[in-house]
Amino acid sequence: MADSSAPEQFPPRRDPRCPMRPPASLIEKNDLPLTKVKQWDGLEPWLITKFEDVRAVLNDRRFSADPRKPGYPEKTEAYGASVGQDRNLRTMDPPEHGEQKRMLVRDFTIKRVEEMRPAVQNLVDTLIDKMIAKGAPADIVTDFAVPIPTMVICEILGVPYEDQDFFKENTEVCMSSDRPASEALAAADALSDYLDKLIDVKDANPQNDLLSRLVIDELRTGKTTRKDVVEMARLVLIAGHDTTANMVALGTLALLTHPDQAAVMRSDLSRAELTLAVHELFRWVNVTHTGRRRVATEDVEVGGQLIRAGEGVIVMTSIADRDERVFPDSDKLDLRRSNARTCMAFGAGDHRCMGAYLSQTEMEIAFGTLWKRLPSLKLAVPFETLKFREEGVVYGVHSLPVSW
Ligand code: HEM
Repeated sequence: MADSSAPEQFPPRRDPRCPMRPPASLIEKNDLPLTKVKQWDGLEPWLITKFEDVRAVLNDRRFSADPRKPGYPEKTEAYGASVGQDRNLRTMDPPEHGEQKRMLVRDFTIKRVEEMRPAVQNLVDTLIDKMIAKGAPADIVTDFAVPIPTMVICEILGVPYEDQDFFKENTEVCMSSDRPASEALAAADALSDYLDKLIDVKDANPQNDLLSRLVIDELRTGKTTRKDVVEMARLVLIAGHDTTANMVALGTLALLTHPDQAAVMRSDLSRAELTLAVHELFRWVNVTHTGRRRVATEDVEVGGQLIRAGEGVIVMTSIADRDERVFPDSDKLDLRRSNARTCMAFGAGDHRCMGAYLSQTEMEIAFGTLWKRLPSLKLAVPFETLKFREEGVVYGVHSLPVSW
């Protein structure tokens, strides 16, 4: 007989009838005391879901983001196999973490992103022009959602956009839980080798881009190593396109399945209202559905539960964003929800997403334009036939055929 007190397997699968909703068994945990779960490698970390607990853990430096520490709950076998080799700021603790973040943040400040706004608008307009010229049906994933953040991050980083198929394929392999570790490691190596060669190109002929600046300011001056530059660039390349691409695709699907909310998006929203609407999509869709991972370095009490030093935690930002205490009627997509900006989709604390403002801006321009220019947008296939990226570390949909 099954032991009812044994930790549940994590992650549970979504209900195929509502693939846009996180699993009910996780949302229910918001009303229960903290519990442990069992993950792929047999490790049993604590599952943190309530908004207040999630915020507390992500802001508490007694929890480490370093996967080399015993007890750290790795997301997938592939992530586990590459521990130590792919170190970057995402997996570093202060003070090392701050030193690396400092090298990157200036390309992602509000001022810098605002300067890019006209170019992003131009890009979005061009993609929609192409969709119209080609005629329906179009695939929102390949024709719209992937090119926007990919082109933008290639431009910022100084990576040739022509190589996008190579990034997309290798990123998908790295970020899947159903691929053998050897394949994921080979894909990660391919991306690293590619960026390593690009460092030589930038060194010989520096341009006005992030990779050139890393080479000139940090590598040549001996402030960092070549390996660190490669890993920083790889993090920015992957984080910069995969999450936003999936958000644009699933955000479009969310609006296609909520015509009343699509009407809000088509209406004349002020900039502030558009920002709020986009944050509600971040909250409701929440693509980073496998949680932030940490390990306690000291005994810490969270939500009345003692977590011992060396115990891992899975911090479910996506479930915190369904916490009824903070977001009443949280299953409802409401683009006018007044506190949507407090959502946890970008994490919190030292590791809060560096690209949050960039992504927000891309989403504002993408949605603000798409629904105005193609007001009759509709799904071109039955909803039940869509294939979701359940296996992805980042949630998404493989393709999204639409017509208008
Ligand atoms: C839909 C869009 C995005 C979502 C939902 C998202 C989500 C997140 C989350 C939840 C974290 C926290 C990781 C942790 O606490 O362990 C994070 C970190 C990070 N994100 Fe994003 N992200 C998005 C877009 C971007 C973009 C466009 C970039 C561009 C470079 C980016 C770069 C990063 C980096 C470098 C980190 C690591 C920050 C650190 O460890 O200090 N992200 N992101």
